[in-house]
Amino acid sequence: MTTLTEADALEGLRDALGLLKDREQVAERLLDSSAKHSFDPDKELDWDAPFEDGKWFWPPELVSLYDTPMWQRMSEEQRILLSQHEAAALASLGIWFELILMQLLVRHIYDKAATSAHVRYALTEIEDECRHSKMFARLISRGETPWYPVSPAHQHLGRLFKTISTTPGSFTATLLGEEVLDWMQRLTFPDERVQPLIRGVTRIHVVEEARHVRYAREELRRQMVTAPKWSQEFTRVTSGEFARVFSKAFVNPEVYTNVGLDKREALAQVQASGHRQEIMQTGAKRLTDFLDDIGVLRGVGRRLWRSSGLLA
Ligand SMILES: [Fe+2]
Ligand SMILES: [Fe+2]
Repeated sequence: MTTLTEADALEGLRDALGLLKDREQVAERLLDSSAKHSFDPDKELDWDAPFEDGKWFWPPELVSLYDTPMWQRMSEEQRILLSQHEAAALASLGIWFELILMQLLVRHIYDKAATSAHVRYALTEIEDECRHSKMFARLISRGETPWYPVSPAHQHLGRLFKTISTTPGSFTATLLGEEVLDWMQRLTFPDERVQPLIRGVTRIHVVEEARHVRYAREELRRQMVTAPKWSQEFTRVTSGEFARVFSKAFVNPEVYTNVGLDKREALAQVQASGHRQEIMQTGAKRLTDFLDDIGVLRGVGRRLWRSSGLLA
């Protein structure tokens, strides 16, 4: 557990004093990078190229059932089909996150001067997310895989959250939605075993997402210094709860049924898989280290994070 030392407190004070200047500088740099490296997926990617036989739609090690007894019994063809359905389920989940994030960003800038770089960057990020959601939707349609919505309970929870969450709560959730998937996508786009279209989609997403992670991290770091104590505590608890929802919603269980597997058995094997647990914790590590550093992973929040399985 992180303790607040005198040095931390002094650093916090300096942070608070330089807050607005720092916020504008970060946003200016991100606007600059957006102007140089933004992509139109409709033009950038070859959507009509046929899929290549024997290539994966997600690296096998990142497929939920990898290395389980069930996986051992599956044919190579069925494993690849599962990778395709999991990619479609993750793209559906990505759209759900992005719709929530867009609303959080609109709420975040609602009472700020639109002339500031901080607000102009938020608007730019919303543009990025609009392109991403359309890109993910096109990918799902292109593979003729189903649309995989989150469960009705998570759908309603998301509706409530995006309407009432506090600013630090919003940015914590943003990072959770972005960083674990980002970690997986960084392994996917350079992987030559993977379909070129999937590699193209993940490459675009990784490049543009790096800015979003930076924006959310910098804002959250400032917020955890300046937000009222109750809001900081509330952030710890809601972020832990969000981590639990996230790890549950991560792969839609319907994927197993749709590739001809027993859903209950598949879920039980994923739950018991040491490999899967390691993948999820490694994927979340960069984020949990950061959250620990800025004081989010304390008390009840930390216990909730542990029970989500994302924190060792
Ligand atoms: Fe995105
Ligand atoms: Fe994003």
